[in-house]
Amino acid sequence: MLPASLSSLHSTNVRTSPYLSPLSSSSSLPSPSPSLSLAPSFSHLHHRRLVSFNTVRGNNPLATKAERRGLSVTCASTCEPLKVMISGAPASGKGTQCELIVQKFGLVHISTGDLLRAEVSAGSEIGNKAKEFMNAGQLVPDEIVTAMVTARLSHEDAKTKGWLLDGYPRSFAQAQSLENLKIRPDVYVVLDVPDEILIDRCVGRRLDPETGKIYHLTNFPPETEEIKARLVTRPDDTEEKVKSRLEIYKQNAKAILSTYSNITKKIDGNRPKEMVFADIESLLSQAKREKMKKTTAVKPVHERKSRSNQVSSSQDNWKGIPTRLNNIPHSREIRNYFYDDVLQATQRAVNDGRTRLKVEINIPELNPEMDVYRIGTLMELVRVIALSFADDGKRVKVCVQGSMGEGALAGMPLQLAGTRKILEFMDWGDYGAKGTFVEIGSIGANEVDEQDDMFILVAPQNAVGNCIIDDMKAMTDAAGTRPVILINPRLKDLPGSSGIMQTMGRDKRLEYAASFENCYFFRLLYYAGTQYPIMGALRMTYPNGYELYKRVDVPSGGEKYVILSTFTEKPSSDDINDAFLGKPRNLGHG
Ligand code: AP5
Repeated sequence: MLPASLSSLHSTNVRTSPYLSPLSSSSSLPSPSPSLSLAPSFSHLHHRRLVSFNTVRGNNPLATKAERRGLSVTCASTCEPLKVMISGAPASGKGTQCELIVQKFGLVHISTGDLLRAEVSAGSEIGNKAKEFMNAGQLVPDEIVTAMVTARLSHEDAKTKGWLLDGYPRSFAQAQSLENLKIRPDVYVVLDVPDEILIDRCVGRRLDPETGKIYHLTNFPPETEEIKARLVTRPDDTEEKVKSRLEIYKQNAKAILSTYSNITKKIDGNRPKEMVFADIESLLSQAKREKMKKTTAVKPVHERKSRSNQVSSSQDNWKGIPTRLNNIPHSREIRNYFYDDVLQATQRAVNDGRTRLKVEINIPELNPEMDVYRIGTLMELVRVIALSFADDGKRVKVCVQGSMGEGALAGMPLQLAGTRKILEFMDWGDYGAKGTFVEIGSIGANEVDEQDDMFILVAPQNAVGNCIIDDMKAMTDAAGTRPVILINPRLKDLPGSSGIMQTMGRDKRLEYAASFENCYFFRLLYYAGTQYPIMGALRMTYPNGYELYKRVDVPSGGEKYVILSTFTEKPSSDDINDAFLGKPRNLGHG
């Protein structure tokens, strides 16, 4: 049989405790006491030690085997450090856990409570203003705290070692201040402890003014009588003030959570501190690994080879094209394979700064010309891509075209009918990404909001008599340099209702459609006029070239895909046929 055509081209609790400390300094930024890590020293607040996790070699227990052998990319130079926020009601154990986190991960601990207490103790202007609010168990005005935090975050150590923000943001306005500055954590840890326990913890809390260590009269009693004798109580630790602090915390917690819903990790804080820390440790280790993976997944442009040389490198982590693609419905494994393949290519392209992208994937379930088409598969693919970018802190707008035309001509392509509803009702994960980081909208300039970071357009297509391109063009103009990703677009001109092709402005429309570059392409190839058996496949993943595969039956009864040829540009039907027939290569196509 001749392969004549392509089928359907188609502070251990160390905390500052300046109040009541007989040794408090009165200068505004006092130098550390020579023998004591006494409170209002900023260097003390930065915490001493530690092995930075940026050092990936040696005995770092968090390093992977490859890292310990010095094989991985050196995170110190290429990996962005970890950024963590810890939150929870008063006395939920934030300070206690921060000390352990700092010891393990080497992050710079920034506690607004500590910073403020240092200012109070130093008798600075800020301290004097803050004092009355703190002693009353109320929040210090946003402008004071925000200025303090942003100044501290801009220090070099926080930039290079990563940071652990404790007690900030404490209101929606504070969270928005950070958002406006594009300061976002990788993880937002919330310690969850019942109210009655919190009150007991506060009332029983004592601080050692000499070491800054936090004790509790019954949970963590001081080691010696001498220490016990010098312990002090925080002025805001009376039952009445704790209740007021708790109330304020509850009023604000929900609003702050909405800002970080997709990265929030709730931890049961009503357990021994070691158990609480074990959970936090595994969470942060995981976050760190993911950061490293992302850094290593995308090589800097200068390290990339030319497109024609990419195929072998693209095979490194790739297990080959899955078999049994004619089995419908596709298995979950097959669907997941393709979702992942598309996602990785799309992420690479977006991370490289590409802004006009398209994904074309024509496995049988996603080919509207086959009667096995499943809209659910398309929706799942869109969700995987949107949530993945949302996980990176991007606000993604997923857009479906509305019905086009007017009166009797109103309509939309059949397979898109109801899509928007499906997207609205889909499960978008536990952390309520939809409504915060993922929004559903329509295709058009009106949908482009200032806070949107990127747009995914679901199968935009021309309907008979109607052209979606004008709406798309207006939308991409409004989006500016923000990425717009088309998933399975069909932007070829269709005849008008009169059966005549609309010619006005056609060139411009085609030019616009062609301005989107493929970041992913997959198409099964069939023998002319058939949809069985599969002849082979054509695959392209950004930034690699096109790979042409032939499907071959394996004597044992299975099948496999073997690579026939590679192309720098999308091959034509003739190129593909020639490759299948073993004819010499058309050099024009690489
Ligand atoms: P801040 O110092 O941040 O106080 P907080 O949030 O109320 O938290 P705490 O320090 O009271 O408790 P914690 O969660 O750190 O618990 P700890 O580890 O000590 O802020 C103080 C004030 O500053 C605020 O009220 C406000 O006025 C102002 N302020 C701060 N940030 C602000 C902002 N962003 N905007 C405006 N104003 C701001 O543990 C508590 C006790 O429990 C200890 O005794 C400890 O030993 C014990 N304990 C800890 N873990 C456990 C465990 N697992 N089991 C048993 N006991 C435990």
